[in-house]
Amino acid sequence: MYAQQQHPIRLRINGQDRDFAVESWVTLLDLLRERAGLTGTKKGCDHGQCGACTVLVDGRRINSCLTLAVMQDGHEVTTIEGLAQGDALDPLQQAFIEHDAFQCGYCTPGQICSAKGLIAEGQARCFDDVRELMSGNLCRCGAYPQIARAVGEVLGIAPAQPGQAVDEQEGFTTGAVLT
Ligand code: FES
Ligand code: FES
Repeated sequence: MYAQQQHPIRLRINGQDRDFAVESWVTLLDLLRERAGLTGTKKGCDHGQCGACTVLVDGRRINSCLTLAVMQDGHEVTTIEGLAQGDALDPLQQAFIEHDAFQCGYCTPGQICSAKGLIAEGQARCFDDVRELMSGNLCRCGAYPQIARAVGEVLGIAPAQPGQAVDEQEGFTTGAVLT
């Protein structure tokens, strides 16, 4: 039995520099949950299919299960725990509450981090854009209409016919029928 080599890395997580010694195969997701104590980021599929693990790295959304922690050495990571400012929720968090955009809540941290990245990308102009650009985030509870409304509200867009354009869709994508 030999000792597994560990690599010293420093990440800036939610505004704080954190030092770790990690084996080369540790994912960013496992580092966040198991070594940084930030369990808000969820593990769903663990292979890039569900979006539950979405976080922001240098402001860009990524699936944290698909990147190694050592690859993010020196980078800035924002998780769901880092979005609120004290007691003041991020506008997306507030909108998710107001639009009842979750049921079990397991996908919610990833949905909100993904939406944060989507807004920063500046590509979404309408609900169809929101649905397309959020298609990497699955919701087993099927809260897609409410999620789209919440994101749309923060973006300042509305359905062409209130209550119709979003409600008539079952998921973010036609393939997103969950069993
Ligand atoms: S847990 Fe990372 S995409 Fe599903
Ligand atoms: S709210 Fe349950 S999986 Fe989305």
